[in-house]
Amino acid sequence: MADLFAGIGGFHLAFEQAGGEVVFASENDRHARTTYEANFRSRTPGLFDTSQFAGDIRTVDTADVPDVDVVAGGFPCQPFSNAGLRRGFADARGTLFFDIARIIDAKQPGAFVLENVRGLTHKDQRHSFTRIQRILTRDLGYSFHWKVLRASDYGLPQARPRVYMVGFRDPSTEFSFPEPVPLEFTMSDLFGGKVDRVIGRTLMASWHRRPLSDPHCFDGYLVDGEPRYLSIEQMCRLQGFPDGFTFPVSEAQARKQLGNAVAVPVAAAVARSVVAALSSCG
Ligand SMILES: C[S@@+](CC[C@H](N)C(=O)[O-])C[C@H]1O[C@@H](n2cnc3c(N)ncnc32)[C@H](O)[C@@H]1O
Repeated sequence: MADLFAGIGGFHLAFEQAGGEVVFASENDRHARTTYEANFRSRTPGLFDTSQFAGDIRTVDTADVPDVDVVAGGFPCQPFSNAGLRRGFADARGTLFFDIARIIDAKQPGAFVLENVRGLTHKDQRHSFTRIQRILTRDLGYSFHWKVLRASDYGLPQARPRVYMVGFRDPSTEFSFPEPVPLEFTMSDLFGGKVDRVIGRTLMASWHRRPLSDPHCFDGYLVDGEPRYLSIEQMCRLQGFPDGFTFPVSEAQARKQLGNAVAVPVAAAVARSVVAALSSCG
């Protein structure tokens, strides 16, 4: 699997759980790279020893990307320009999605798994979403399945609606998104006290400590009537990262990285469905 926009490796953990192995990753933020390497070097030494841990994806030469079965990534959302609708996927030039498309085009993986904020499917960004879909299907020849999945439908007490996009090089490959599963714990379990909501708010990357009364406060809760804020360990659990996952960076960076990450059980459920679909079509 190629782990693009790798962050701290949510997709890495997800595909590992689905029986996969990451052989290439790209992440350009030095703090995220530090966390990624600290957690994955001992598990996948080859990724670091053979310099397959690239930085800025815009400078990656596709000849340096190994053959992979799956390209996965949660890419930063950028609007597409209105110009040049007829130039195929070159229309996306200047967006980070273009770099995903050129790697898929060059490496022809069996499948891709992309993740983004739900807003990409909303009316004001629908134009970009349509272009993404058109490039992957019409220009690159892949199938395209999409669905908004919530972390709370895959065991975690966090809303986090995200659009998942999955496609196969063989467009006849049968695929359906994984069925929801019950919550594994609640916000009260997480805090060890009574919280008035069962499912917590979506973790965000832009973190500032705010009073609980602030509508932009996403990490503070009334627990047994007292204000409490999520610790890094509690944020890890809300995102499905394993206990023991380490953050050799500042607290602010750790909170930003967790807010940016993919919810691992959701990505892992999708990864298992993708691996099953790829296996069934041989
Ligand atoms: C939404 S986050 C993805 C987080 C990841 N899925 C995880 O589980 O941690 C997007 C990531 O893309 C990285 N990024 C942004 N521009 C990039 C570029 N030009 N090349 C490589 N990585 C980039 C950001 O630093 C950020 O970590």
